[in-house]
Amino acid sequence: MHRWHGLWRTKPIDSLIHEAHVRGHTLERALGSFDVTMIGIGAIIGAGIFAMVGEAAVGASSGHPAGPALIVSFVLTAIACAFTALCYAELAAMVPISGSAYTYAYATLGELAAWIIGWDLILEYAIGNVAVAISWSGYFCHLLQSTIGVTIPAWLSLDYRTFLQQGLDLASVPHLFGVPIVFNFPAVAIVAALTALLIIGIKESARFNSAMVLFKLAILAVFIGAGFHYFHKENWVPFAPGGWKGIQAGAATIFFAYIGFDAVSTVAEETKDPGRDMPIGIIGSLAACTVIYILVTIALTGMIPFSELKGQIAEPLVAGLAYNHAPAWLTALISVGAVVANTAVLLVFQLGQPRIFFAMSRDGLLPPYFARVHPRFKTPHVTTIWTGVAVGTLSAFCNLDEMANLCNIGTLFAFILVCLGVLILRVKDPHRARPFRMPGGMLFPLLGVAFCLYLMLGLGVVSWVRFFGWLAVGLVIYFFHGSKKSVLRATPR
Ligand code: ALA
Repeated sequence: MHRWHGLWRTKPIDSLIHEAHVRGHTLERALGSFDVTMIGIGAIIGAGIFAMVGEAAVGASSGHPAGPALIVSFVLTAIACAFTALCYAELAAMVPISGSAYTYAYATLGELAAWIIGWDLILEYAIGNVAVAISWSGYFCHLLQSTIGVTIPAWLSLDYRTFLQQGLDLASVPHLFGVPIVFNFPAVAIVAALTALLIIGIKESARFNSAMVLFKLAILAVFIGAGFHYFHKENWVPFAPGGWKGIQAGAATIFFAYIGFDAVSTVAEETKDPGRDMPIGIIGSLAACTVIYILVTIALTGMIPFSELKGQIAEPLVAGLAYNHAPAWLTALISVGAVVANTAVLLVFQLGQPRIFFAMSRDGLLPPYFARVHPRFKTPHVTTIWTGVAVGTLSAFCNLDEMANLCNIGTLFAFILVCLGVLILRVKDPHRARPFRMPGGMLFPLLGVAFCLYLMLGLGVVSWVRFFGWLAVGLVIYFFHGSKKSVLRATPR
């Protein structure tokens, strides 16, 4: 009976904050509002705007093209994300602990929900990163080939399934004990390099991130400038070739492009003034990226008829420039921008995942070994290394689309629980100091839930089945380990 009862026990916010300050489990407070806004932009702008806009414009997987009305899709998804971003800002300022949505769920919905969300966040961070690492590898190989003429063989740059889908011959690849060797080496290499950087230090990682963010913003500014130069208004006729369905399908696809503003909350424990820095970082990065995305989409759809993007959806921005016979240096510059942008996304997500594991371990839901902090670098090195190993291994052998869809469904579920968390804390703990209080009373969090649910329902059956399968595995682990070792349960009421 006691065991079942414990499932719903919530962790008081004060003890969450207190435990974060226990010696040996403390992270360094080194980041300001500029750093965290840059971390947000670093996490947001990546494969979504550099690759998935093409798919959304032509409706490659849904069959409903958004066309130039993709601009409207971007506005719609931004509104959905804005409600959630406000919720994240309120919680991250109030509970500045590194576990993000996991921690908020522990404080509001109870231990079982916290475990589920922590487990689910692996889909957003680790699985999302597998998708980005695969996309990074694609751009990187293309860049090597188009600039210095070096070709990485397909068996060293693709996963097994994509290799076969491309009609390549397994007999031609090296074999080890009779087994053909096919794996994505560049994806593994970039994950390994970033893991090493993240172990060395949060400040070094943040600096590297800021430099990459400034670079990718500059590249996108160049693209926007080129877009206005090559703008032909006839490319906007018809504006919405797929009608509302196209706009809606486009909104669901480009949701991936916005994921990342929430990653800001994972470094709450490492910011100097989380009450101020968290809302600025979360809302500021989302707002900045929304404006950039809309301008890039105006530029892209104005420079090329959307139907011309068919067959070139992997690199739509490059396709737009090539259609207008833009100089070669300009297209190469955009490819470099894509590689850098994906590197920044990888870095931030690779930074966020270990901090969630770290928080779960500190709470006893994962073994204490995962809560170790490196004595010299003051980073959660154990969880950083394990995250690197898992993401690197999966990105060697997995396929991009499947990973991106799993990431989308997991993230939307996390967003819903965060919005619910705000509602619950408003009722349960109305007098607690809220350095940032989202406007709109109870309505905005409710709208956040509704929007996210709507987007979730737009995802395919396969994603739902995988999502439930993942949660089922998580529940088994919880009942065999977390429910017995929980620090909260060992604490008398
Ligand atoms: N928003 C991130 C990207 O577009 C995940 O790559």
